[in-house]
Amino acid sequence: MKLSHKKILVGICGGIATYKSADLVRKLKEQGADVRVVMSQSAKEFITPLTLQALSGYPVSDSLLDPSAEAAMGHIELARWADLVIIAPATANFIARLTAGMADELITTLCIATESPVAICPAMNQQMYVHAATQDNLNTLKQRDVHIWGPASGSQACGEVGPGRMLEPLDITALACDFFKASEYLPLQGKNVMITAGPTREAIDPVRFLSNHSSGKMGYAIAQAAQALGANVTLVSGPVALNTPTHVNRVDVDSAENMLESVLSDIKEQDIFIGCAAVADYKVEQVATDKIKKSAETMQLELTRNPDILATVANLKDKPFTVGFAAETSNVIEYAKGKLERKNLDMIAANDVAIQGQGFNADNNALHVIWTDGQQSLPTTSKTELAQQLLQLIIERMDHNENSH
Ligand code: C5P
Repeated sequence: MKLSHKKILVGICGGIATYKSADLVRKLKEQGADVRVVMSQSAKEFITPLTLQALSGYPVSDSLLDPSAEAAMGHIELARWADLVIIAPATANFIARLTAGMADELITTLCIATESPVAICPAMNQQMYVHAATQDNLNTLKQRDVHIWGPASGSQACGEVGPGRMLEPLDITALACDFFKASEYLPLQGKNVMITAGPTREAIDPVRFLSNHSSGKMGYAIAQAAQALGANVTLVSGPVALNTPTHVNRVDVDSAENMLESVLSDIKEQDIFIGCAAVADYKVEQVATDKIKKSAETMQLELTRNPDILATVANLKDKPFTVGFAAETSNVIEYAKGKLERKNLDMIAANDVAIQGQGFNADNNALHVIWTDGQQSLPTTSKTELAQQLLQLIIERMDHNENSH
């Protein structure tokens, strides 16, 4: 039984897929999980709490304001009890309310009050699912580390065909099993990983700077994935509009020199260094102390080279396993190989930023990863997925290097 000793809180919202939730509780129990059920008020219009009570073996919680239920197991206690929260089905309304942080009903309150991972299984009409509001909400939840399981595509109760069907109870149970299995896989436990991410800002005067379009998404995805594999992660970040991944130590920096200083202050402790930041190659030679006034039709700024953070780390005595990124618009592999050698790297991940929808600011990317005696292509997928695949390659190379010494 793959879910023995696991405590799973199943939250049920009101929708036509609610009838499947009873089977989900059964399937989770069959794998050995201890399951408690929370229902929204509207869920009770579709299926009775009595059914879920009989299947889970516990009274069903459905209200924040029920003194007897709160005395038996209050909402905070329930939130602490769970190893995993699964909301199935998660309606468009629930998703919007969770995104907004509403705590006016037990089911959303629990998702906010818990420190445990939350997985939601969307189920709704296909048009509601593809609506920009729902998609934006799901993206926000993803960024907050909420797992989005499904939906499946196919014919819907409303007669339409498209994405929005709740995953089958068997599939959700399999995802729960995988989830716990993955969370026990901690190959980077005890390892320190430092990642640089985002752009740098090079001051021109007190109000202006030179920078670039880097969103930081790739570096942040790597930080999150490394943390999930057990690493102690330090994320040295340029200015970006992203939330800090949970349990990651984020150090905010501004200019390339600033970033180098932060990196070097703790580099001796690191086992792995991944330079993902889009560091400005040049800085302004003379930063004006006062705001520059407009006068002539043209003006010139004298630029001077910035330090190369990655190359500095890669050339340290006892350097960590050092990984660089190369964003190119042509001859991607050839240029990346040159960079691997020139900068003395252990590995380089190259991407073709000329391809639409890839690289800067995009959610998806593809990488060609090259190391001293091998290479592998990682085809287009989400940056989250790519981050996991890249770390897997790093782990394999480090194991290989250790075994060959
Ligand atoms: O040489 P290029 O800028 O293309 O190399 C890109 C790689 O080098 C990235 O990993 C980037 O983080 C790193 N880099 C750096 N410091 C610089 C320039 C680039 O760490 N000044």
